[in-house]
Parts: sequence; C-alpha cells; structure tokens
Amino acid sequence: MLAGKKIVLGVTGGIAVYKAVDLVSRLRKQKAEVKVVMTQSATKFVAPLTFQEISANPVVVSMWDEIHEYSIEHIALAAWADLFVVAPATANIIGKMAAGIADDMLSTTVMATNAPVLVCPAMNSNMYTNAVTQQNLATLKGRGFFIMEPGYGLMACGTTGPGRLPEPAEIVTAIEGHFARSLDLRGNHVLVTAGGTREAIDPVRYIGNRSSGKMGYAIAEAALARGASVTLVSTASLPSPAGATVIKVESAEEMRQAVMAAYDAADIVIKAAAVADYRPMIVADKKIKKAADDSLTIVLQRNPDILQELGSRKTHQFLVGFAAETHDLEAYAKEKIAKKNLDMIVANDVTASGAGFGTETNIVKFLFPDGSKAELACLPKREVADKLFDEVVKRLPANARQA
Ligand code: CTP
Repeated sequence: MLAGKKIVLGVTGGIAVYKAVDLVSRLRKQKAEVKVVMTQSATKFVAPLTFQEISANPVVVSMWDEIHEYSIEHIALAAWADLFVVAPATANIIGKMAAGIADDMLSTTVMATNAPVLVCPAMNSNMYTNAVTQQNLATLKGRGFFIMEPGYGLMACGTTGPGRLPEPAEIVTAIEGHFARSLDLRGNHVLVTAGGTREAIDPVRYIGNRSSGKMGYAIAEAALARGASVTLVSTASLPSPAGATVIKVESAEEMRQAVMAAYDAADIVIKAAAVADYRPMIVADKKIKKAADDSLTIVLQRNPDILQELGSRKTHQFLVGFAAETHDLEAYAKEKIAKKNLDMIVANDVTASGAGFGTETNIVKFLFPDGSKAELACLPKREVADKLFDEVVKRLPANARQA
C-alpha cells in the first residue's frame, strides 16, 4: 500500500529518536520514499548519517546547508510530500506548529506544506498533560492535523504516564490507514448540502437560521480527500473546496431543485443543510414599510421536505440525514430515520457547548436503521466528517467500494 508514497519525516529532539530510525526502515521495506528533516536537537540523539543511510536520501537539518543532490529548499520538500509525519514530536515543535513559528528547517517546511500532517507526540507525561500542550494539540486538530495518541507507560525520565512515542509498527499502521482512507471513496459521487436556507420576506429581508455551513463543507472536503467526486449545494459563502462542483442556492425550493437534479448521479447523499420548514406565503415585491400598528403578521406555508422526497425516490443511494435537536435527541433522530427512509442519521444536540451551529467542533451520535449507534466525543468538524465516512464506507455495497 505504501509503495511509491512520498513521506517527509520530521524528527525532533527526544530520547525516542531511535524509534524514528526503525520507522524509516519499516517504511522503506514497504517501498515508500522517505525524506528526513531533523531539528538540531534531534541530531544530538542520532546522527543525520543514520537517517541518510536508512532513507537513502540526504537529510536536511539547517536552512543554510548546501545540498547538491536535489532541490532541497523547504518549499520543494513541502510540495514533494504526499504525507508529512512528525515523529517524535516534542512539546516545542507542537507549540511552534500551533503558533505559526517557522524558525528552522522543520517548522518552516511544515508550514509550507499542503500535505496532510500526522503528529506523533512524545514527551514527559507532565509536559504532555500540561494545559498549553493540550491546547496546542487541540488547535492543530482543529486545523486538520492528525494527532496520534501517545503510549502510556514508564518513560525514560523515570515517570509513568502518557507521553511515550507509539511503537513504529503502530505509526506505520496509522500511515497505512491514512493512505487507505484517502482512496476509499474513489469512484463514488457524493452530494452534500450545506448551510441554512433563506426564505425571502421582501427584496431586503429573509427568514434564516444559525447554520454556518461549516459541517457540510468539512464533509465535502473529507469526501474529496478520500477520492470522491463531490457536488456541494450550498447557501453558505465559505471558500469552495478545491475540486467540488459548488451550486449556490438560497431558498429551500432552490435547494430542492438543485438536489433533485443531482440525485440520480449520486451514490452517497449527505443532507447537512438546515432547511427551513416554512416560508412566507407571500413574498412582497417591494420593501415592506413600517405601519402604524405595533405588530406585523407574516403567514408561513410549509416547504417541501427535501430529504423525505429523496428517501421516497431512493434507488441505489446511501442517504444520510442530520437531526439538529434541543431535546429528546435520540427519539427524534430514530423517528426521522423511519419517516425519511434514511441509511444513517447524524444527530446533535445544538444546545451542547462545542456542538451545533457556527462552532469549529461538533458532538454527534450516528444512528442506523438496525438500531445500532455510535457516540462521538467533541471533535473538529473535519474529524466528524471522516468518522461519518468511515461508517458509510463500511455499509456501502461491496461493488460500490472502489478502493
Ligand atoms: N430537511 C430537508 N427539508 C426540509 C427540512 C429538513 O431536507 N424541509 C432535512 C435536513 O437537511 C436534515 C433533516 O431533514 O438532514 C432533518 O432536519 P430537521 O429540521 O432537524 O428535521 P425535520 O424533519 O424538519 O423535523 P423538525 O423540524 O420537526 O424537527
């Protein structure tokens, strides 16, 4: 699986550097190409020559080394990587990556890369559990970095706790998992809706809701990263995910039309949008002016339930709905699975802190028609999106899996 994959390994200074040598050796045995960047401190534990011999590539330490074998400047290395792995990652490099400090070859190269970054922390337990480190790790997670949990046990410093670098074999498994995931939606067309609909009252005003569209965009990005083609029907004005076909809409009716037009070609449909259930019955063609009386009545009429229509017209599509609730979450979510003929529902309590509208994170439960469910911790929306696809992929018919 790793043959030909280009992996940049960033090595920082900790006693676990010796394990990184084994990691490079295992990656090379799987025919991955590995280029190593070391910090000055890392070279105090293991000489660059060791990594050079094992990786069969020059090792970079300083921004100012003259290396003639190939174009080694940080930009070239950053662009070369299919995956960037930092192992062992000290509290220092984690802090630098979180704060945007680029003062050596490794921190500069990480900042310049568009490749996914897998961070494998290794440090003394107290440093690992320190609030600053935990906050920095949360920041990195929020920006889409993948963070491996360190091992628990006796450390070189004599303390016992979390902070050990995971074993090289475990890191290789995480790397394999990364590349497997990045292919597992290949050949599938994913249709995603995002944002809150806007129902016009007059040319100036509308009825809206608090949905930001961030969850739907994270889903679109995850699907693209895993090899799917993506149509994103959106009301949000967020930057378009590279490679997605984005259809901008405003109202529920416009969303309905765009979704129905794309439905037949879709294999997986994820309705993350918050669709207004009602719209003003009459849309004034001129701005409504204040009148003498203290109240104004707007009569609303029901919007079509797009998801229910998708459920009733379903042929081969895997249909995922969302349930944003403030109470009785599971009961309502189960009801919606049945009523809308869904294959999965993502239920969240929008009143919980760290969940729901506008936040960077979400706290969700996945529920399935067979009664099974999975409960997730508070995670960045992009991680929720990947966990969602992990579940979808498990349930796709075998002939729809292209990886
Ligand atoms: N949905 C839809 N069309 C609507 C309303 C909702 O497609 N007119 C979809 C949403 O995109 C979401 C799911 O249905 O995936 C659940 O939406 P929600 O508003 O939570 O549920 P409703 O079925 O509208 O029920 P209620 O508002 O009574 O909770």
